Amino acid sequence: MCGICAGISEKINIIQDVVSGLKKLDYRGYDSCGIGYIDEKQIKVVKAVGQIKNLEKKIQNLEAKIAIGHTRWATHGIVSEENSHPHISQDGKVCLVHNGIIENYENLKSKEVVYYSQTDTEVFANLIAQQQGEPLSKLRMACQKVVGSFAVAVLFEGHDEIYLAKRSSPLAVAVENGVVLASSDISVFAEKFKSCYILDDDEFCVLNSKNAIFFDKNGKKIEKNCVFLKNYDFFADKNNEKYFMLKEIKEQPMAIRKTYFEYFSKENKLDFELLKKFKRFHFVACGTAYHSCLIGAKYLKEICGKDAQVSLASEFRYEKNIYSKRCLYIFVSQSGETADTLACAKMIKDKGYKSLAVTNVPYCSLNNMCDFVLPTFAGKEIAVASTKAYTCQIFTLLIFAQMLANKSCEHIKKFALDFKIQNLREDVLQFIFQFKKIFFVGRGQDYVTSLEGALKLKEIAYLNCLGIAGGELKHGTLALVDEETLVIAISTQKGLKEKMENCIEEVRARGGKVLLVSQFEHNVKVDCKIVLPDFKEDFMPIISVVPLQLLALNFCLKLGYNPDKPRNLAKSVTVE
Ligand code: M6R
Repeated sequence: MCGICAGISEKINIIQDVVSGLKKLDYRGYDSCGIGYIDEKQIKVVKAVGQIKNLEKKIQNLEAKIAIGHTRWATHGIVSEENSHPHISQDGKVCLVHNGIIENYENLKSKEVVYYSQTDTEVFANLIAQQQGEPLSKLRMACQKVVGSFAVAVLFEGHDEIYLAKRSSPLAVAVENGVVLASSDISVFAEKFKSCYILDDDEFCVLNSKNAIFFDKNGKKIEKNCVFLKNYDFFADKNNEKYFMLKEIKEQPMAIRKTYFEYFSKENKLDFELLKKFKRFHFVACGTAYHSCLIGAKYLKEICGKDAQVSLASEFRYEKNIYSKRCLYIFVSQSGETADTLACAKMIKDKGYKSLAVTNVPYCSLNNMCDFVLPTFAGKEIAVASTKAYTCQIFTLLIFAQMLANKSCEHIKKFALDFKIQNLREDVLQFIFQFKKIFFVGRGQDYVTSLEGALKLKEIAYLNCLGIAGGELKHGTLALVDEETLVIAISTQKGLKEKMENCIEEVRARGGKVLLVSQFEHNVKVDCKIVLPDFKEDFMPIISVVPLQLLALNFCLKLGYNPDKPRNLAKSVTVE
């Protein structure tokens, strides 16, 4: 993953812009960070383990006109200063920050070089240094030799420029008022720039103090169109909440309403007619977005009678002979930058098949790759654990299914207006806090909610928990149920009520405790209950996940962790 930010200016001390850029990028990784700069023609580097504030302490009063910065999510090598970026070549002449993975880095190692870190990036820095010619040719030649993904910003000793290259990892550049900035995410440009340029794969760019000059893979100069930033929702603050995650959970009703009004406003130009001709749909995504796809596929099957299937992007990539021309491939991703999802979208594009991106970030790489875009309007999501993006994905896929089926959306509007967040009762929280072993159980759409509930609790409270299909309990997991086990049973479909009751009885017979999450009465005894507001069944995946999000958040806080930045994870998973 990782985030890079690099800047150059004759007028100002660029260090501050680069550091404040890194702070905005720390959702991409926060294991360590570092900055490389030019001081009296010499390349210098400062690094720190942990958050950007640790780096700031080390660079107080530092001034420079050219700097490259990095915030790291460790892939190759432990979290340490040696493994932090920037990396410098053995001869000291090339200094590099990198987002991505160089897959063939072991083969590219040179016997003449002593490597100080365990990273693929240090190998890349040395590879560039070993090439002949001017900086841009060296960078181009090195890029030809590497396999994998990269967005890099490079300093060359003796050159007052920053050199950029990109393949499969995002990189953009903005130029205004004597400041030139490059970043992994355009939100970094929000305060100072009106427009920016987004690099495509295998393009290069040279930044000098006044300008950005773009080149294609052959080193030929190219002109690029700029993207205007005025309509982009950059700003995210905690709105007086202590954590982004809590704020984002609370924002869900607003986000759902915004999504409704965006799709039903007169300005909405999306042509659903074009999409109706597809008979088959194949969803592809990772993590939470994969869960929303499972619900989306159910909508397409049940509401439109269409054939729909779902794959994890990391699995779909390596499946054989599954492609069909008559199918619409739907890639769902909050960030639109997830490496596995992007790789699948590219695979489908290369085959000439049609694809639709469902994303929450305008100008993301996935939108670029797909034929159609169905935006979700959740607003910027900062917390690593996805909440409002998930419910907006589900809501958007419901609108999509209704439109494809030519069905009225009046009840969708009513839901959008009526949906509210209910807090968890204190007694429910105290009950849940007693347990360390928690299973989430559900059937049908509630099985998906159980997967999502378990993912949230693992992700931020680090509890070893599982989401299980109700009917599967007796095929193995029941062996783990004892007096110390909590089973959270989600039951929102009246047609499956009895089946869920059986499941609850099976758990109670083994001494397990049960928390029931439902909007209706059940004929079984349970230990605790969360009563959900009663909406039409199609909306219940949105309704029932909210208490599970709150449960995970409260558990995390009770254990003293930061919900916004769970260990080992990052918001945007830009490596495979
Ligand atoms: O940006 P994406 O939606 O493509 O991200 C996919 C997953 O990495 C993401 O949903 C992840 O599972 C979340 N951290 C879960 O809360």
